[in-house]
Amino acid sequence: MQQATAKPVTYGASDRPPRGDYSLARADYTCEQPWEDYTADEHDRYARLFARQMAHVQDRACDEFVVALSHLGDAQGIPRFADINIVLRQATGWELVAVPGLIPEREFFTLLANRRFPVTYWLRSEAEFDYIVEPDLFHDLFGHVPLLFNPVFADYMQAFGSGGLKAESLHALEFLSRLYWYTVEFGLMHTSRGLRVYGAGILSSVGELDYCLTSPEPNRVAFDALRLMRTRYKIDTYQETYFVIEGFGELFDATAPDFTPLYTALRDLPELGAGDVLADEKTYPPNRV
Ligand code: PHE
Ligand code: CO
Repeated sequence: MQQATAKPVTYGASDRPPRGDYSLARADYTCEQPWEDYTADEHDRYARLFARQMAHVQDRACDEFVVALSHLGDAQGIPRFADINIVLRQATGWELVAVPGLIPEREFFTLLANRRFPVTYWLRSEAEFDYIVEPDLFHDLFGHVPLLFNPVFADYMQAFGSGGLKAESLHALEFLSRLYWYTVEFGLMHTSRGLRVYGAGILSSVGELDYCLTSPEPNRVAFDALRLMRTRYKIDTYQETYFVIEGFGELFDATAPDFTPLYTALRDLPELGAGDVLADEKTYPPNRV
């Protein structure tokens, strides 16, 4: 049954109307993926985006991401989410659901807590081939979905959903959205072969994949939940600071404890700017090129 209760959600101060059709969405903001409506141009654009990025993530993305990319299908065109779900459910119990675009925080966290990942159903235009401000199908699918096949990361994402609902009730969403930003979207991992990327915002971008790993400019700070949640972020430039984990086990364990005392402490601590580095903290050098 369709209910016309889903209201469009826009990003930041954007004055452009949202592109997805929110009248298709149910009350939980999910909808059917309108697969039959994709044009030949859109299938072709997806295939070209995929091929370019597939080549670019080799030796830059973490191994867990690269091995899982094959599960996204043959990439000749936009996949049906239902086909990916057959393998994804079996791997980690997650499933993809289509959404018209950004959705409110509570609905977003509720989906994650139930191991359902929202994927925007529409694809960027040709003019946005290199850069798009809002998340589209390519960012959501290519950037986020491969790691849902990794058991530890899959559990982290579910914990994030429950943690988000809790943070909302504690009025601490601002702190938790920083954690989302600096891990799920822009996280780096230190491996035996140097730094690698696991954040979806980097993995679906061309320029930042090189910048974050090799530029001398940004800070690369060892992951620490309290330090991270004090730190503001920028949404319209390359990041000034990346937080580095040693593996998904560390990320999961460090975020497992109850954040309630952390949120209390954070209210009394000064915020840090996106580019600040503290005197005594561990940082990582860029990869050598
Ligand atoms: N442990 C966090 C809490 O108690 C929940 C959480 C887990 C948040 C993992 C983010 C990631 O609020
Ligand atoms: Co994203």
